[in-house]
Amino acid sequence: SHWISVDKARSESSIGPDIEIRGWVRTRRDSKGGFSFVEINDGSCFGNLQIVAPAELANYADEVQKLSVGCSVVVTGELKESPASGQATELHATALRVLGWADPETYPLQKKRHTFEKLREWAHLRPRTNTFGAVARVRNQISQSIHQFFHENGFFYTHTPIITASDCEGAGEMFRVTSLDLEMLAKKGGPVNYEYDFFEKPAHLTVSGQLNGEAYATALGRIYTFGPTFRAENSNTSRHLAEFWMVEPEAAFFDLADNMKLAEDFLKRIFSDCLNHCGEDMQFFDQRIEKGKIEQLTAVIDKPFSHMTYTEAVDVLKSTTEKFEFPVEWGTDLQAEHERFLTEKHVGGPLILTDYPSTIKPFYMRVSDDGKTVAAMDVLVPGVGEIIGGSQREERLDVLLSRMSEAGLSEEEYSWYIDLRRYGTVPHAGFGLGLERAVQYATGMANIRDVIPFPRTPGNADF
Ligand code: 4AD
Ligand code: MG
Repeated sequence: SHWISVDKARSESSIGPDIEIRGWVRTRRDSKGGFSFVEINDGSCFGNLQIVAPAELANYADEVQKLSVGCSVVVTGELKESPASGQATELHATALRVLGWADPETYPLQKKRHTFEKLREWAHLRPRTNTFGAVARVRNQISQSIHQFFHENGFFYTHTPIITASDCEGAGEMFRVTSLDLEMLAKKGGPVNYEYDFFEKPAHLTVSGQLNGEAYATALGRIYTFGPTFRAENSNTSRHLAEFWMVEPEAAFFDLADNMKLAEDFLKRIFSDCLNHCGEDMQFFDQRIEKGKIEQLTAVIDKPFSHMTYTEAVDVLKSTTEKFEFPVEWGTDLQAEHERFLTEKHVGGPLILTDYPSTIKPFYMRVSDDGKTVAAMDVLVPGVGEIIGGSQREERLDVLLSRMSEAGLSEEEYSWYIDLRRYGTVPHAGFGLGLERAVQYATGMANIRDVIPFPRTPGNADF
């Protein structure tokens, strides 16, 4: 017999004899007419394939009638057109072999619905549920679209290091990497001397691949990185992870306007691919997770994004009657509540905020002619807030050096980065997209812990 996926078997074009399906039982229903209906899912798609298992099967009473949620099976038979509504095909079994049982007394994923919070305790089993299967497929689609989009636009995929000595964002939110036995050293007393450590200096997990990315962009022209990123920010929110995936394009000869256009085209491509290639999964999110999601994304794809400077945004926030927990003053960072107000109530869609005060942004952002703002851009979306942060980079050696000295950064440590301005400097720009926030926006999932397979958050590195 011929093994095909459930996805394929659900299509009429697969109708025929000697078809084999391998997967996990979702439900079993015994009919009085001497047969059972068994719904099988194999992860290849959202939907299940209905198996019609007749009482004539040799193991009907012993096994088929004992099947419960989660059992793994191999079924062979004839794939026929289904008389039932809502499914094109069904498999009439001539043999059903059980590979693994799942004791209904102990298997957690019974028919009863669990909260997402509860399911986090079974991060190893939750991909077997409808919701987490759909999230995993959409996350895969977005990842594939990221590579396709950049490949088609002439960006080279570049691998930047995970372990690094530099702090790109300058926020000090880094996880230290050491081979020293800190416990043993603490017992001995005295300071820890990193000169004797593996890298002969303090090293960290990267918070961004950008600085290394700039080195490749100022040689290959257009590059992007896509990999895990780490932040030791102790924020227990629905939008922060200690380990997340970031996509960082960087392009030589790009200014802020080019960068904004790239970000908009990129996001539109990602979301339209979700709608075009994850139809059933997106239908599910639209109906069960966030009503109107498909219509919302369709509008995002069709309309140009709104633009506003930070200064304009502050004016809007100060003049609204809306009450905020945190006050807004020019020069302070916008809080989540402010970003939500701007995207959800003020513009009602994605918003690109630009020209932030230099004092609240990292050293590498290009200082504008006013001397007070930098050529920064954040892309904000309703429900999630910031999904992209980026900027045009400071390409002028003297300005960069003075910004670094203001930030207290050592010229010696960043000498390699400064070289990019010493030798053949060019205007360049780039941005970072948080993959999980993009998945949140595409699916409507409220908590970032539910769009990454095994979330890392304060107090949680299990599984
Ligand atoms: O705004 P951020 O900090 O920008 C950078 O790291 C730049 N170096 C990027 C660049 O220009 N190449 O982070 C970029 C994006 C954010 O907009 C957000 O989507 C995501 O990364 N992000 C997080 N996602 C989940 N958990 C966290 N703790 C995140 N921190 C940032
Ligand atoms: Mg940011």
